[in-house]
Amino acid sequence: MTAAYCNGEFLPLEAIRVSPLDRGFLFGEGIYEVTAVYGGRLFEPDAHVRRLQRGLDELRIDAGRTDEDWRRLMEELVRRSGLDGAATVYLQVTRGAAASRTHIAPAGIRPTVFGMIAPLKLPPESWRTEGVTAVTMQDARWSRCDLKSISLLGSVMAQQNAADNGVVDSLQLRNGLVTEGAATNIFVVRDGAIATPKADHRILAGITRAVILELAAEAGLPHAERDVTAAELATADEVWITSTSKEITPVTTLDGRPVGTGRPGPVWADVFARFKARVGR
Ligand code: PDD
Repeated sequence: MTAAYCNGEFLPLEAIRVSPLDRGFLFGEGIYEVTAVYGGRLFEPDAHVRRLQRGLDELRIDAGRTDEDWRRLMEELVRRSGLDGAATVYLQVTRGAAASRTHIAPAGIRPTVFGMIAPLKLPPESWRTEGVTAVTMQDARWSRCDLKSISLLGSVMAQQNAADNGVVDSLQLRNGLVTEGAATNIFVVRDGAIATPKADHRILAGITRAVILELAAEAGLPHAERDVTAAELATADEVWITSTSKEITPVTTLDGRPVGTGRPGPVWADVFARFKARVGR
């Protein structure tokens, strides 16, 4: 069963109504989160709640909720869904609906808080055994990619570019540097050393990314958060894309050429085994 929530009420998804004057609808003014659930338990809920609250603080949207409130809301969605396999909880908070459309929001409008849970379609087995294909493209997005904004035109266009090219993801480049995939972070491996772009305004600080960096540190694997050049991407032994829904997926063909040996690499296999142990499956 799926379960959903809007502004204080748990309702069937189909019963939820949001005003056309909602500033999320008119301006894309809002923040969202996607949190994985494995075996009925939220994965890294505190990190997701912190990122949500940071985004809301940056936009000065006061939903009047504590970190504990956000966490309980997610837990309640899990409980009501009865889902015990892998799932994702989606939370979205917008500025809310004002009486008319003006760019600057009038004071005192009530944020719209929406949540839902749905089964998580885990990446197909072939993604682990064969890896996936990707292409590079110029990053056409704005310079606040650190915000998990509901304005997702950049992501949608990058994913469309991937679909148009018959590949799984578009790896974006800005001024000769790697940024991120359509909705994924990017890692490269060269001579056993892991690198990923540093989490500044150019990328979203992914929770999966943070877990991988922790796992690498625990395992004593060489790793760095730093600028990664387009040339490094093109000559890497391994390239991975990472996110809540794609977990850690090896890219084995990039721009039509094999990455390294053209097979999922040994560093990926090591880190992915640690990741699976961490999520408990
Ligand atoms: N997207 N970068 C972008 C632009 C993203 O949209 C996402 C996640 C990530 C990875 O973040 P995390 O590891 O916290 O999932 C990086 C989610 C899954 C989505 O939009 O569905």
